[in-house]
Amino acid sequence: MPARLIDGRAIAQRIRDEVKEEVLILREEFCVVPTLAVILVGDDPASVVYVRNKAKACGDVGIRSDQHLLPGDVSSEELLNLIESLNNDDAVHGILVQLPLPPHISERKVLEVVHPMKDVDGFHPQSLGGLLIGNPLFIASTPLGIMELLDQTGIGIEGKHAVVVGWSVIVGKPTAFLLLQRNATVTICHVKTADLAFHTRQADILIVAAGRPGLIHGSMVKEGAVVVDVGINRVGEKLVGDVDFNSVVEKASFVTPVPGGVGPVTVAMLLRNTLEAYKRACKR
Ligand code: GUN
Repeated sequence: MPARLIDGRAIAQRIRDEVKEEVLILREEFCVVPTLAVILVGDDPASVVYVRNKAKACGDVGIRSDQHLLPGDVSSEELLNLIESLNNDDAVHGILVQLPLPPHISERKVLEVVHPMKDVDGFHPQSLGGLLIGNPLFIASTPLGIMELLDQTGIGIEGKHAVVVGWSVIVGKPTAFLLLQRNATVTICHVKTADLAFHTRQADILIVAAGRPGLIHGSMVKEGAVVVDVGINRVGEKLVGDVDFNSVVEKASFVTPVPGGVGPVTVAMLLRNTLEAYKRACKR
């Protein structure tokens, strides 16, 4: 039997509705508008689309988004100064620096400067380190979204063998730790893993975030596995994932589509993190 699709759009809509309702109530209580500052450096076409989508999503739930569009040749100093000023601005509750940054700017240095209490992306070392000990300030939106999608299938995570393909700081590593925290047995693989198929075939839960279109074929998937495809690759006019959907759908029990799987839930989780940053700021 072909896999059931995990409907990221429907799950995201439910989360967005919840955030919207809470924002409405809290705005009345605190009389302050929750605000996310979004910084985009340069004009990478994918990043421009992502930032536009995030801004629209904020507007839809009553969160103000201030966009800071900087030229691709902006100096590190100017960018760091902007972040410092947003850190010190009480009207700003969350700060997001869209990645990737141009090669002349150190991403690590930039992400370290964002105040941890405004780090709604969860990329600050304090948040990432907190994940390791099970107590992060914020968890990055994509790993949070992946966990939400898994939970919606009702399969249960404890005791399952989860294989994560991709070790990025944004997705692979935090997702692996979240799965471990839920008592999955976790294997982390990547595009250099020898005999990748051997490992992926062990997976009850397979998370693929390698940025390689069609990396995972149905022959590499265990019968009945739950497959979450985090890849978003432009191939010609089409957006495709890292998973060869047509062959995997015949083996898996659940699979996320691309588009309409992880992407919408990631944006919804950013809204939830921004709401959380706002609540914490208002309570201080
Ligand atoms: N670039 C790709 N994914 C992300 C993300 O989740 N956050 C930011 N800031 N940049 C990204």
